[in-house]
Amino acid sequence: MADEIPLFRKYPKLRSIPWVSVINSPTPIHKMEQTSKELNHKAIWVKRDDLTHDIYGGNKPRKYEFVFANILKKNKKRILTQGAIGTNHGLATTVHAKRFGLETHLYLLEQKLSQTVIENLLCHHYFGAKLNLMKNKNHRKLAIKTKLFFDRKAYFVTTGASSPLGTLGFVNAAFELKDQIDDKTISEPDRLFVTVGSLATCAGLVLGLELAQVKTQIVGIGVTDPSWSSKKATIELASKALEIMRKEDPSIPDVSNELEKRLVVDHSYFGGQYGVPTDEALEAIEIAKKDKLKLEYVYTGKTLSGLIDYIRKEKISKNEVVVFWNSKSSADLTDFANEVKHQDLPRKFHKFFEDSTQIS
Ligand SMILES: Cc1ncc(COP(=O)(O)O)c(C=O)c1O
Repeated sequence: MADEIPLFRKYPKLRSIPWVSVINSPTPIHKMEQTSKELNHKAIWVKRDDLTHDIYGGNKPRKYEFVFANILKKNKKRILTQGAIGTNHGLATTVHAKRFGLETHLYLLEQKLSQTVIENLLCHHYFGAKLNLMKNKNHRKLAIKTKLFFDRKAYFVTTGASSPLGTLGFVNAAFELKDQIDDKTISEPDRLFVTVGSLATCAGLVLGLELAQVKTQIVGIGVTDPSWSSKKATIELASKALEIMRKEDPSIPDVSNELEKRLVVDHSYFGGQYGVPTDEALEAIEIAKKDKLKLEYVYTGKTLSGLIDYIRKEKISKNEVVVFWNSKSSADLTDFANEVKHQDLPRKFHKFFEDSTQIS
């Protein structure tokens, strides 16, 4: 099958797992010429997952290929999901779910305001999300539980779509990278830097690269609280994804005990608080601009700052082939956001637009 995804080509028995096409793939991988020069490093590469989709790319749509397929199979009509008001996951869900006739209900908590947060909030509305502002996590839990109880067509998608099924999207991404190694687009990377937030991106890559038997070590840069985005939790999620795979195809090796050796999770670049910039992330964003990459400080800027620091401190040798996994959509949403007046949003959200000094 010409359009078959790399994961199903490798393990044909997994075709029994529901899957729908969401992304443009394979995403390009190329050298960051200017960044490599600036850091005097032989080969820093970037995997362009910012380009997974023209309207809203980034890492989330890869997870939806499995998560949405499961929702459609269950004949559900509404997705309930959660995040902060500027959630990338919530926006990506809203944009992509709509294409499958699914409605998105977002249960949102306040966060520090920035231009991106404000733009995402307007876009949630533009793409048709039903918005609910929650006082705190308990309030949110209760609201979602109640909705699920009364609405049998509603389905809850976990934070960041980081379920074991969502993780399969990144196991597939690892096999996509393996294809790019095999067709000599890139030589086998020594190390890959990726953001760790709600875990599935890193968990899927660790599992996929282990199964694909490439030598690449993964450095996961934690950007959420270390108790949440831990190495242990990442490995546990990868192991659950492996269980799903082995249920369909028991000949897939049980590599769960091998995963630990391949992964480092480092929170040194987190800066102590989710969503707050560090000087190093801001510097990384400027460096990446020279390679025409648009990063931000919550996820990808912090991750690239980790890569830069490892190189500067010679934690990795000059000749290593290093990959930076660019997980944030680079699509420009300004035109969509400009279509929305903040007064069109539910009343509770108006306060975020009323004092511009709060927006950094
Ligand atoms: C742009 C971006 N990159 C990376 C991540 C981290 O991915 P994951 O949540 O799968 O750990 C997130 C979300 O947390 C994100 O929004």
